[in-house]
Amino acid sequence: MARKIVITSGKGGVGKTTVCCNLGAQLARKGYRVILCDLDFGLNNVDVALGLEHRALYDVVDAIEGRCRPKQALVMHPRYPTLYCLSSNRILERYVSPQAVRLVLDSLAPLFDFVLIDSPAGIDEGFHRAVSCAEEGLIVTTPHISAMRDADRVAGMLKSYRLNSVGLVVNLVRRDLVRRGEILQPEEIASQLRLPLLSVIPEEDKLFLDNVCERSRAFRLLAATVAEGEVTKGEHKRFFRR
Ligand SMILES: Nc1ncnc2c1ncn2[C@@H]1O[C@H](COP(=O)(O)OP(=O)(O)OP(=O)(O)O)[C@@H](O)[C@H]1O
Ligand SMILES: [Mg+2]
Repeated sequence: MARKIVITSGKGGVGKTTVCCNLGAQLARKGYRVILCDLDFGLNNVDVALGLEHRALYDVVDAIEGRCRPKQALVMHPRYPTLYCLSSNRILERYVSPQAVRLVLDSLAPLFDFVLIDSPAGIDEGFHRAVSCAEEGLIVTTPHISAMRDADRVAGMLKSYRLNSVGLVVNLVRRDLVRRGEILQPEEIASQLRLPLLSVIPEEDKLFLDNVCERSRAFRLLAATVAEGEVTKGEHKRFFRR
């Protein structure tokens, strides 16, 4: 039965979709069967980030409304045969209930190991829908104060959803600034937010081919931590000392 993990942040543009796609790709490389479920209705871009735009014949709303079976809405990634994208709808106005999405995901869950749910920015209906479908959460922040404040707010809100676990990913970290002490250490950010630090993702100049960076050590470590619960605290330190 798939583990359903929501990737959320509060603040926009901090790297939720990037983390979702790269974590999914790394899990798929390990042989896990993964669905990347885009619940950022209206501004959906998981398919674009994966280079799968226009490939989907159906989306999650088609599956909900019975125009296709849930499996038919999945698009396989050409490079990773166990990685699938479940696109969301571009139509913002239509109300889609969390229960309806959950039914679709639950029907797919037995066939997969992970469902990674990309949540929209903000803390309104879309956030609620995405989080309601998950059992675990990943909060993405950057080392900037505004992102951290929103992450803290989201962490507080997640408490009422009773997720099994919530971890922190610190993205867009510049090693030079960390070394010079100009930004907070990721460990310090995690301790301020009182969340376990799962991964530190550096800001890369040229990170992405289709927004997925296969060679990224940071995303590999994140996948290992998520899948196997490996302790990577020392690894983060070594990573930044290199
Ligand atoms: N570690 C990174 N290094 C370099 N660029 C990055 C990194 N992470 C994300 N980006 C870039 O930052 C931009 C925003 O990332 P992304 O779309 O993943 O954020 P988001 O949180 O999903 O945004 P939104 O709230 O709009 O959904 C993208 O152009 C992405 O390529
Ligand atoms: Mg996004």
